[in-house]
Amino acid sequence: MQGAIATGWGIAVPDKVLTNADLSARLDTTDEWITERTGIKERHIGGTTSGLAIEAGREALRRAGREASEIDLLVLATTTPDAIVPGTSATVQNGLGIAGGAMDLNAACSGFVYALVAAHGFILAGARRVLVIGAETLSRITDWDDRRLAVIVGDGAGALVLEATDGPGELLAWDLGADGSLRNLLYCEHGGYLFMDGKEIFRKAVRAVVESSLATLERAGLKPDDVDLFVPHQANARIISAAAARLGIPEDRCVVTIDRYGNTSSASIPLALADALDSGRLTAGSTVLMSGFGGGMTWASAVLRWGG
Ligand code: ACO
Repeated sequence: MQGAIATGWGIAVPDKVLTNADLSARLDTTDEWITERTGIKERHIGGTTSGLAIEAGREALRRAGREASEIDLLVLATTTPDAIVPGTSATVQNGLGIAGGAMDLNAACSGFVYALVAAHGFILAGARRVLVIGAETLSRITDWDDRRLAVIVGDGAGALVLEATDGPGELLAWDLGADGSLRNLLYCEHGGYLFMDGKEIFRKAVRAVVESSLATLERAGLKPDDVDLFVPHQANARIISAAAARLGIPEDRCVVTIDRYGNTSSASIPLALADALDSGRLTAGSTVLMSGFGGGMTWASAVLRWGG
């Protein structure tokens, strides 16, 4: 039996940090409002999606001890591609020197978990090594005069190297979902700005994360109690708290990085995952539950036994 395990991770964020104080100086908002309603204190802004993805991918390869020429496939999750054509993954392939294929995947904020599950499938189909990256520059599609959105978005990227291994590997179960009848809750037309019905998404997001997480755990024969670390999409600290409370996962088992990065869409889960790895909260043998939701609407969860 063949499975996959993660062997390296990396992140990249732009140098420029935008604090709540910076935003309050130019918009009708306050640090207090942003902190209370979202949990965000600051976010990184700038760069390009391909540039951030290349930096995160290079770091993940270095940690895995792999050359780009050993990668069979790049799956790049992004909702903010550099251009409509070509795919941003082609620019990243070229920047890193990846020998294999490259493709973009757009499932909005659920994109990284979709890409992770897809990468495991490619490994089952015979790929030896897949580089999975979530990278975003939401700042480029944000109307910086719209205080509802300007305060929540951030830019960044996170990457994982997945490698084939003998045995079942690390992915225990997954759940992917979509409901396009809800597409008007969060969208961006060509050349336009992001529109978001924050209140409605909030309501739907908590339910989607809870139901998708429970379905995933059930498929793996696990209960919320078995989860060592919960790595949710970082859209709003209140959504994370509400979902964790309903799942019965204590806050000390949740990874929260939204205070430093804001909502970075498909980069948020790998940024949080890297934080947990770097701080030693996630170690070999840990059971980790990831769950995301976003525009589409889409949702996606995966439960892994870290290190297989
Ligand atoms: N500063 C101060 N006041 C504000 C701000 C701001 N930045 N933004 C909105 N307000 C005001 C509103 O105008 C409103 O005032 P009113 O009552 O006088 O009309 C009041 O604050 C409350 O506004 P709500 O929109 O009801 O605030 P809410 O508590 O819902 O918080 C938020 C808004 C933070 C956007 C929340 O709804 C949320 O996080 N939703 C989910 C977002 C999400 O998960 N998105 C998915 C992915 S996003 C992506 O992909 C980019």
